[in-house]
Amino acid sequence: MHVLPTLLRSCPRRLRSAVLSVLAAFATIAALVVGVGAPQAAAASSLPCDVYAAAGTPCVAAHSLVRALYSSYSGSLYQVKRASDGATANIGLLATGGYANAAAQDSFCSGTTCIITEIYDQSPRHNHLTIEGAGGAGAADVGSPADALPVTVGGHQVYGLEISAGMGYRDNSTSGVAVNGQAEGMYMVTSGTHVNNRCCFDYGNAETNNTDTGNGHMDAINFGTECWFSPCYGQGPWVQADLENGLFQSDAGYSKNTSNTGTGPLPFVTALLKNNGQNHFALKYGNAQSGGLTTTYSGGEPTTSGYSPMHQEGAIVLGTGGDNSNGSIGSFFEGVMTSGIPTDAADDAVQSNIVSVGYGGSTGSTGTLNAGSEISLRATTSCCTTDYVRHQNDAAVISPLTSSSSSLDKSDATWIVRKGLADSSCVSFESRNYPGDFLRHYNYRLYRQPMDGTSQFRADATFCPQTGKSGTGTSFASYNYPTKYLRHYNNNVYIASNGGSNAWDSSTSWSDDVSWAVSAPWAP
Ligand code: AHR
Ligand code: AHR
Ligand code: AHR
Repeated sequence: MHVLPTLLRSCPRRLRSAVLSVLAAFATIAALVVGVGAPQAAAASSLPCDVYAAAGTPCVAAHSLVRALYSSYSGSLYQVKRASDGATANIGLLATGGYANAAAQDSFCSGTTCIITEIYDQSPRHNHLTIEGAGGAGAADVGSPADALPVTVGGHQVYGLEISAGMGYRDNSTSGVAVNGQAEGMYMVTSGTHVNNRCCFDYGNAETNNTDTGNGHMDAINFGTECWFSPCYGQGPWVQADLENGLFQSDAGYSKNTSNTGTGPLPFVTALLKNNGQNHFALKYGNAQSGGLTTTYSGGEPTTSGYSPMHQEGAIVLGTGGDNSNGSIGSFFEGVMTSGIPTDAADDAVQSNIVSVGYGGSTGSTGTLNAGSEISLRATTSCCTTDYVRHQNDAAVISPLTSSSSSLDKSDATWIVRKGLADSSCVSFESRNYPGDFLRHYNYRLYRQPMDGTSQFRADATFCPQTGKSGTGTSFASYNYPTKYLRHYNNNVYIASNGGSNAWDSSTSWSDDVSWAVSAPWAP
């Protein structure tokens, strides 16, 4: 079966479908003969789509930024586009059936920035995801920065996909994906460290026109802290089913399972949904680094009209709701959709495989200067120890933040640490609520502005951390003015030298003003 995807890719689509149906039938018979959960499905070298194929529920979509999902896959994983000249490159694997060649991305994107423009489908169905267009509830999305989520898998440095608000991917013209009450399963590996309660970080089946066309027109995994139907138990984030017009934890919508308090900030989470399209769906989650899956719901379709049978349309969405509601954030490393409802044994074998590859590294670990981490920057001068760097009317200022500050103020004061745009050994600060905008100096004052790809911008937005000049915290030297440091002065933020011609270069309290406490983010 391992050479199948490659072979089938060269067949005409109609022939391919016929071959796939026959093979699926054989696989089903084989599974029945040997019994569900047969050892073949769990063979050590079997990657998730090998497992699902052997169990008679082949992948019809297989997306990953980090690894092959078929042991025979040797194609590209995703495409990046760089800011400097608009050129694109496909990022592939280090070996057939192996891990992403992230070094190829680093070299292609060196000295500039890249966004992810396409996520390829490894299945023979060609259901590739591109940047999502405008929808009923959101303007057209933008691509995710390609180096935003550095992690390791199988001991290799790779990049996951980090979705901020306003980002999403989609394919509205698919092949083989369930429609109109057909059965399907799906999983994704995501993270509990980068979530919010906005609609709707989803992966799965959605409308083909980016608008809400009614109950049952979606069948996607949702992961986040949005509790659509009360009660939900605990703090989340929860694995839920976005079946359109609701994030379901049961047939009643709300959670009937008091022990389902969510995954908490687990760095790597397996999230799984399966739905027979007629009268049953199930939700599972697991720690993608160890152990098995826990079923949080297995029962009937929602009792409200429209869900039984389901009315899936067969588009695939990643990172937004069906109508492109795009206020949500999330992380994505790999995910598949199947034709037919997979056996629990196949799900277990897939989880074992996920655990076996050894996901590791920071996933937006908060409050550090590691790339991908989210932070707030607190002043340490005695005047101002509850003040944080935030943007306001596009300029950077310091102002007091407390737990009761508005969520807008908290987002304005939250920054995503990126590898330095001009020097990867330094850092840049991307705005949390204006993805793609960075903190940069201009005439020595700090502003939040869209990264424009120029070398001037990259230099102005790059800061090199060192021990705080006051002996406390961290100071940030400007990359292109290395004797000037990030400083607050009269509540504005500048790059300033210790004594100089500008008012903000004043030596008075300079060393305190340039020393910052790198803190947990106000808006994780
Ligand atoms: O079902 C929840 C959300 O409701 C869907 O994702 C979206 O299409 C609608 O706004
Ligand atoms: O902030 C100092 C300089 O002012 C920046 O490097 C440049 O963009 C602007 O002219
Ligand atoms: O930015 C607030 C204060 O303004 C600084 O500590 C001081 O340098 C200036 O007076």
